[in-house]
This record gives sequence, C-alpha cells and structure tokens, in this order.
Amino acid sequence: MAQPPPQQPLRTLPPPFNTSAESFELIAQGAESLLYRTTFLSPAQPAALKVRPQKTWRHPTLDKRLTRQRVLAEARVLVKLSGEGIVAGGGGRKVKDPKKKNDGGGDNGGVGALRGLVPAVLALDWERGWLVTEWIDGVTVKLGIYQRDLAADEGVLRGLLGRIGRVVGLLHLAGVVHGDLTTSNMMLRPTRTPGTNADAMARAEEERGEVEVEGGLEGDIVLIDFGLATQSVSDEDRAVDLYVLERAFGSTHPKEEGQFDEVLKAYGESMGKPGKVVLRRLEDVRMRGRKKSMLG
Ligand SMILES: Nc1ncnc2c1ncn2[C@@H]1O[C@H](COP(=O)(O)OP(=O)(O)OP(=O)(O)O)[C@@H](O)[C@H]1O
Ligand SMILES: [Mg+2]
Repeated sequence: MAQPPPQQPLRTLPPPFNTSAESFELIAQGAESLLYRTTFLSPAQPAALKVRPQKTWRHPTLDKRLTRQRVLAEARVLVKLSGEGIVAGGGGRKVKDPKKKNDGGGDNGGVGALRGLVPAVLALDWERGWLVTEWIDGVTVKLGIYQRDLAADEGVLRGLLGRIGRVVGLLHLAGVVHGDLTTSNMMLRPTRTPGTNADAMARAEEERGEVEVEGGLEGDIVLIDFGLATQSVSDEDRAVDLYVLERAFGSTHPKEEGQFDEVLKAYGESMGKPGKVVLRRLEDVRMRGRKKSMLG
C-alpha cells in the first residue's frame, strides 16, 4: 500500500473557509485530517473544523470515495447520537427525553441517546471533505490522566474510568460502535449542560454518592472522532471496540493499566444482560490478539 510522504505541507483551507474572516487555529494534525478551532456563523459559537485534505499519494477516485465515506460516517453517527439537526416530520426537533431510560433498540433506535456526550454537527461538505462540530471545552482524557493530581485519592481515577465505561455502554446500546476508542478520542468537559443526557448521568452519579472532590479529572466524558464508526449491535464488533480501547489504554497509560477493569465493570453494569455476553466475547478477542502477536 502507498505510504504518505513523511512531511505533508500545510494545506490551504477549502472553500468557503479560504475566504472567511474567522480565525482558524490549528489544534491537531493527524495522518488523515487537520483540526482547527474556529467560530461558526456567530462569534459566539465556537466550533471545531475537521478538514480531510486530498491525499496526493492515493488514487484520486479512491481518495474521494474514502474521504466522502469518513465525513459522512462521522456526521451521520453524530447526528443520530446527539439528536441534533434532525427535523421530525412535523417540523419540530426530535430530541429524546434525557430522563427516559434508553434501551437502544427502542422506537427511536438510539436517536439522541448521547445528547451532550458527543459534539453536535453544525455543517459539512462531504465532497470537499470537511465537517464542523460544536467545540468541546476541556482537555482530552489522555491529557487529563497525564496531568492528574497524583496526590489525589485513587477514587478520582476510578470515577473517571467508570464514566468512560458507562458512556461506551450507552454508545453500544444506541447501536453504534466507535471503531477507534482511545483516550485521545474522548474529551473531559468540566462544565455541565443542563437537560442533556450527560447531565442526567452526572446527577445519577451524585445520587449514588460517586462524585469525587478535587483531582483534575472531573467533568463529563464527551466522545469525539467518529470517522471509523459503524452502526452495529453485534457482540463481536462491541467486544473489538472494547479491546481496541483496552490496548490503547494500556500503552498510553501503563501506570494506570491495572485499573482498566473499572471501565469494563461500569460498561457491564450500564449494558445489563447484553453486556455480559460482550465481556465474555472480549475474552475470545483477547485470546485471538495474543495468538496473533505470538505468530508475529
Ligand atoms: N469538537 C471538538 N472540540 C474540541 N476539541 C476537539 C474537537 N474535535 C477534536 N478535537 C481535538 O482535536 C484532536 C483531533 O481530532 P480528531 O480525533 O477528531 O481527529 P483525528 O484523530 O486526526 O481524526 P482521524 O483519526 O479521523 O483522522 C482531538 O484529539 C482533540 O484534541
Ligand atoms: Mg483522534
């Protein structure tokens, strides 16, 4: 397979951003995309612009198809999960009641099940390869763990891991697998948005007495980067999603690796019965992973 050249020059922004008066701050430059902080339509609306520039090392037709697929996959899943931007037949917005228990397979197929736990989509152009979402204030979970107060009670970290497990459980119940679960693809948002499912989850934690005091890891988990997401309720896909997270967590946070079980425990609790099947499946996936690495 063709490899990207080591140094990709910084591309100019696609239209309409190339003639926009807004400022664009480059936040991250991955292998496939550039992420800018900007504002959208109003200076009061901070936004994340993700641009997937043309890859000159790929065949142009294939490149266009892949870019379109990724942008659309990400937008579709975000629109479904946040319940934003979907206009119901009557002209009103179809937003799920956050107090209503999500069963994932119910009448609305998980629509709005992660409102406040994923960024809302503001605009997109799949032909030109860009997506604008709501800006999430805060740091990535990766940075949060790196910068955490080591003197704080270990319960603070456990609280965070529990929140991660519950959000992933909600995602799977809503019929979506993420495809690239890592601690860089999760943000830690310190402020709460009343009326969202994120707010409802935080309240439930408070009621269970699970809210930690100081420790630098407070806030809602917001899942981002859905370019590889798919709609699936298969146990295998869900187990692989967890396995990817487990492996990524172990290599990014070796000191905390021993506590990853907290994620799985909370996942199992939030998923109920189907969660047990997924966790059993995870053991098979791990076994296959080990065999594969032994074979080289
Ligand atoms: N909505 C957002 N609000 C705030 N920061 C964001 C947002 N989206 C992304 N970021 C920041 O930009 C970084 C890169 O974004 P993202 O993970 O979506 O892109 P990527 O990893 O390059 O994508 P891909 O793997 O699909 O090519 C994130 O780790 C995060 O720090
Ligand atoms: Mg990412």
